[in-house]
Amino acid sequence: MKNNLVGKKHIFTLCLLALSVSSFSKDYLISTPKTSFLFSAEKGQKSKIQYYGTRIDDIKDVYNSGLNVNYESYPAFGLDCIKEKAIAVTHNDGNMSLDLFVNDVVTENIDGCEITKIIMKDSLYPVDVIQYFKNYNGTDVISTWVEIKNQGKKPVTLYQFASAYMFMPRGENWINHLHGDWASEHMMEEERLTNGQKCIVNRYALDNTTTSNPSFMLSMDGKLKEKTGLVMGGVLSWTGNYKIQFNAQNSYLNIIAGISEENSHYILDGKQTLVTPEFAMTYSTEGKGGVSRAFHKWARKYKLNRGGETRDILLNSWEGVYFKVNQETMEQMMSDFSDMGGELFVMDDGWFGNKYPRNNDRSSLGDWDVCKEKLPQGIQGLIDYAKSKNIKFGIWIEPEMTNTKSELFEKHPDWVLQVKGRELTKGRGGSQVVLDLTNPDVQDFVFGVVDNLMTNYPEIAYMKWDDNSSLMDYGSCYLPKNKQSNLYVDYQIGLEKVLKRIREKYPNLVMQACAGGGGRVNYGMLPYFDEFWTSDNTDALQRIYMQWGVSGYYPAIAMASHVSADRNHQTGRTTPLKFRFDVAMSGRLGMEIQPKNMSDKDKAFAKRAIAAYKGIREIVQFGDLYRLVSPYDDKGLASLMYVSENKTKAVFYAYKLEHLRNMNIPNVQMDGLDPNKKYRLKDLTPVNENKPCWLNERVISGKMLMEQGLPLKSLLGGEYSSLVVELSEVETN
Ligand code: GLA
Repeated sequence: MKNNLVGKKHIFTLCLLALSVSSFSKDYLISTPKTSFLFSAEKGQKSKIQYYGTRIDDIKDVYNSGLNVNYESYPAFGLDCIKEKAIAVTHNDGNMSLDLFVNDVVTENIDGCEITKIIMKDSLYPVDVIQYFKNYNGTDVISTWVEIKNQGKKPVTLYQFASAYMFMPRGENWINHLHGDWASEHMMEEERLTNGQKCIVNRYALDNTTTSNPSFMLSMDGKLKEKTGLVMGGVLSWTGNYKIQFNAQNSYLNIIAGISEENSHYILDGKQTLVTPEFAMTYSTEGKGGVSRAFHKWARKYKLNRGGETRDILLNSWEGVYFKVNQETMEQMMSDFSDMGGELFVMDDGWFGNKYPRNNDRSSLGDWDVCKEKLPQGIQGLIDYAKSKNIKFGIWIEPEMTNTKSELFEKHPDWVLQVKGRELTKGRGGSQVVLDLTNPDVQDFVFGVVDNLMTNYPEIAYMKWDDNSSLMDYGSCYLPKNKQSNLYVDYQIGLEKVLKRIREKYPNLVMQACAGGGGRVNYGMLPYFDEFWTSDNTDALQRIYMQWGVSGYYPAIAMASHVSADRNHQTGRTTPLKFRFDVAMSGRLGMEIQPKNMSDKDKAFAKRAIAAYKGIREIVQFGDLYRLVSPYDDKGLASLMYVSENKTKAVFYAYKLEHLRNMNIPNVQMDGLDPNKKYRLKDLTPVNENKPCWLNERVISGKMLMEQGLPLKSLLGGEYSSLVVELSEVETN
């Protein structure tokens, strides 16, 4: 949700450095190293999408091969109403039509990225639509969004306002997308796109990735494959309700992506502008793997706060002690974690509230003062202790929420979303309610939660920003009667304003986006955050499936992955500590455990694994991902690897998900290596330090590893056995 500001002047006019060129030729080609987008536009005509796919260098190729789709780039409702539309407007006089014609096409260069704008005007009414295309320099990602400008004096109502409308040739299309629920988010789904309509939607408004994720891959040539095949990828940068529609008929396919307009018609005042969220897309000839790598690179370069800096290894207190936070326990956890080589300690829920101390989930949200009874030395005492142990300190907050049992609610009952005259719907703990972020006073308060903590304790290095509720009661005391339907959108605009203020003031504060686990894994949040909490489910086995899904669209550097207790608190499963580490080490490694309950042997293993992760951190966090064996393929195995950009280093993972006697375990072929290089292999996490697996220290060529692969059969044992191997180029003369 990059530019979702209403009533703000065109953002680019503010950028003094912008170079603006107005041109008027028929075809406009936007090309990345591997992809191209072609549209045509002429003054007084409809702008038309012609092509999106692999890179073209000669426009004639598209026309001569008959691949030009020649369809409106942003069709409006009202005339020729048969096919799906991108926008629907009702004017103040009741007229429900819009007829958009190109007025100009302008290209600008901002921060090295080329932006092309198609400026469209309605022939009768003062409503303009500016369609943007942004070419992200150095990546294979092009994005699009629109600005809808009400240039008149009277309000108009927007019933539909898509970010993107893509018209594609129909192929043998399959789609990949994610689906789940709390503690089982991001499970991968793949299916054939049959004729008719398929929608990826979420209506939770806040934790918008608890169920589906606003992302997809679409193949053009049959079942999705990892290494080959023509695949388009799309992600919507929005953290509210969304809808991504695929309308497929034998003769055509269109994709309409944007904010869900369900119960959300938007009243746009005179002289007001609505900027829709950005929809980013890529196109690969290297199957799903190519799409993922393109999004990961783009995310690290442009979409993630501090995307170029390594992440610390942290211990989060939640599963270790839940609400039983106190000085002694926090110190003990910090001390134990520091002994294991950890770098950052995060105190989770349970540290605040004095009139109503936060001892469970039934009270205190909103009362962000340290609980003096539990933490007599306050936050500074904890920071000082962390420093004495040579680790950093972080803290949990849930600033958009309050409980009906809290001082905040007692003081400001009207700050809560509510339907006048009706009883409040209460969420978690039977008392959690949502603050009304459309209200500027509430925005100040939410900003203040972070600002006060950072002003008083500037050494806080990390904040986990949680949200454990969906938007439940649809009503705002702040929005006027005639604009209640703006709530879903205006909440997000309010949230973004707060996050922008925070980032302007605290660009280096590490922040995690969490929403009852993995409810905010999206590119709407990520520009303001360094990472996301992937799921409250920390079971290593299920994490393999969930993290696989996430890896389709989001980079490992942002994917928080924690080692937790045995038996797992969410599934009750028992798995070896090595397995738990080997899984967590494929993302941003952390722990979510009471170290006091670990045996000395386990602590010693954890210390070695943490040290090993430090050695491969850069490869995992900045390398290219190659998925090798999918857990969804029912082989009882999963395997993946990361390869450094210059292919001198790599790290390989393999997991056994189930064990049957004499089960067939095929060799696994690596990918992404340099066939001409030789690599030395190192077993990174042997249970017995002195007994690494037989591969350890062997030197094998990239060619052999990629063509024939490794005999996993002799490397993995029973159920939940696993392997993490580092590969380092061996210089040969
Ligand atoms: C949510 C988060 C957890 C934890 C709890 C605290 O469920 O996902 O990680 O922070 O809240 O109440």
